[in-house]
Amino acid sequence: MKEKLEGILKKAKAEIENIQTLALLDEVRVKFLGKTGELTQILRGMKDVPAEQRREIGTLANQVRESLEGWLSEKWAMLENAKLLADMEKEKVDITEPSRGVKRGALHPLTRFNNKFMELCVEMGFTVIQTPEIETDYYNFEALNVPKNHPARDMQDSLYVTDTILMRTHTSPAQVHAMETLKPPFKIVCPGRVYRNDNDSSHSPIFNQFEALVIDENIGLKDFMIMVKEMAVRLYGKDVKMRVRPSYFPFTEPSIEIDATCQICHGKGCTLCKGTGFSEFFGGGIVNPAILEMSGIDSTKYSGFAFGPGIDRSVMVTNKIPNIKYLFRNDLRFLKQMR
Ligand code: DAH
Repeated sequence: MKEKLEGILKKAKAEIENIQTLALLDEVRVKFLGKTGELTQILRGMKDVPAEQRREIGTLANQVRESLEGWLSEKWAMLENAKLLADMEKEKVDITEPSRGVKRGALHPLTRFNNKFMELCVEMGFTVIQTPEIETDYYNFEALNVPKNHPARDMQDSLYVTDTILMRTHTSPAQVHAMETLKPPFKIVCPGRVYRNDNDSSHSPIFNQFEALVIDENIGLKDFMIMVKEMAVRLYGKDVKMRVRPSYFPFTEPSIEIDATCQICHGKGCTLCKGTGFSEFFGGGIVNPAILEMSGIDSTKYSGFAFGPGIDRSVMVTNKIPNIKYLFRNDLRFLKQMR
């Protein structure tokens, strides 16, 4: 029995010393100290050892077990440490390696233009609202004084979802939503995507507008012009010149088209402004009293003005973009030039 124990001690020592991985070391532990391990079996067989030897053999067996456990845990710690060092070596980062350059993103030119205009409107006291991109015929046309079969509908060739539901053709339905829900006086602006059955180099089925509406007592064309001039000055600087032309929209009376100094040639005249020195700023006018009444606003007490610029054309012109589709393709080669 004594020799057996000494044999185990020697064998285990040699095996533990040679082992190089944690998994194999665990196998050695099981082989000697596991449930059916060599040492475990000896310890279990103690009852068969003659009584006079039991004490001596018992002490020896316990010493062997302690030695084995000590070596195993020492080796375990050593292998674990070696593994950690090896992993760290593998994951090493060379902090002296030169940077490959940080690629920074940028806002889309339409977003930049829109943000600029919205900031300006907020500074001037407007509340920014959002209304649905899918509208009923009522909000998109009827409530804006464009009854069914009216020729004015031809100005906005439309994308219908059903006979009475369509993709909004302009942001003007926001006027109706605002008049129905807000108590005058108020100033709202609604930016967003609009949809028309249009498709060529300067027209896209999706484009962007925003709608501005001011409702108050005793306001008219003069107030409108003062506000528009102030907007143009804040956008283009104090030397900006304005020009007003008569126009027609079913929802305003009178309707006007406002031009501002061409921002490409600064008024000198260029191909983009066709030599006039002016480019279109936006269309608008005095809200037709019929519209106020339809949305529940007393037109004998309140009046208002509204305007609705498209922003894609401005972004195209100021960035000399030849085709409106570039704004929607998300081609990085194009977008990088627009940063
Ligand atoms: N909704 C018009 C369009 O898409 C633009 C517009 C014109 C909006 C005059 C207005 C307005 O609020 O008063 O062509």
